[in-house]
Amino acid sequence: MELNEALYTTRAMRRVKADAVPDEVQAAILDAAIRAPSGGNTQNWRFVVVTDESVRSRLAPLYRRAYAALNETIYAGRLEAAQESGDEATIRVMRSSSWLAENFEQVPMWLMAYSRNDPTGASIYPAVWSAMLAARGHGIGTCLTTILGIFEGEATDEILGVPEGRGWTLKAAVSCGYPLGRWGVADRAPAHQVAYADRWGEAPAFEVPDPLWP
Ligand SMILES: Cc1cc2nc3c(=O)[nH]c(=O)nc-3n(C[C@H](O)[C@H](O)[C@H](O)COP(=O)(O)O)c2cc1C
Repeated sequence: MELNEALYTTRAMRRVKADAVPDEVQAAILDAAIRAPSGGNTQNWRFVVVTDESVRSRLAPLYRRAYAALNETIYAGRLEAAQESGDEATIRVMRSSSWLAENFEQVPMWLMAYSRNDPTGASIYPAVWSAMLAARGHGIGTCLTTILGIFEGEATDEILGVPEGRGWTLKAAVSCGYPLGRWGVADRAPAHQVAYADRWGEAPAFEVPDPLWP
């Protein structure tokens, strides 16, 4: 796949089929992920690829609890506010996120990304994003989520057998599966509205009203 196609169309693809992700595709995703940079090239990461149905079934209630906790705290009132103002984009994201929570165990593969000894907190995300791009190249839809680690980290670690006291922290749970929907270019506030030239607030030399790909 052409680089720009992957960059422009790697969306949060939560609705996926139950079909398994073949071992060789899992290998390709992980092999791409570990090529990513990390601070000082420490590679302080571990990945747990969850495909076993019984493990998914045990994690599913935790994910649903985490999702409920998110909506009661950080996202409290978000759906209601979106409905009131007619913010369809937010309503769509929240419906899609609910689908993922309700169907956690139907998603054939979850990539759990752990890191440790990373004062920046950032070293794991290039690898996670590379995994998502590689998955896209294999026609696999992904969605990066963080709520399991935030709200149910300990219980998740116990199910996954993560060794205690060694500093491993769940930073992302990425859903992976063959999409039910179609790929499209991500709709975002355009670059020239969120980028400045040399000084905060100074308009850049470019305007990009429409995506530059395709
Ligand atoms: C740090 C981070 C955390 C996220 N957490 C969740 C999550 O808990 N649940 C979920 O369904 N999506 C989650 N997402 C996915 C975002 O909602 C999604 O990337 C965003 O809505 C853009 O979607 P799009 O690329 O399809 O336009 C997360 C994304 C990021 C980058």
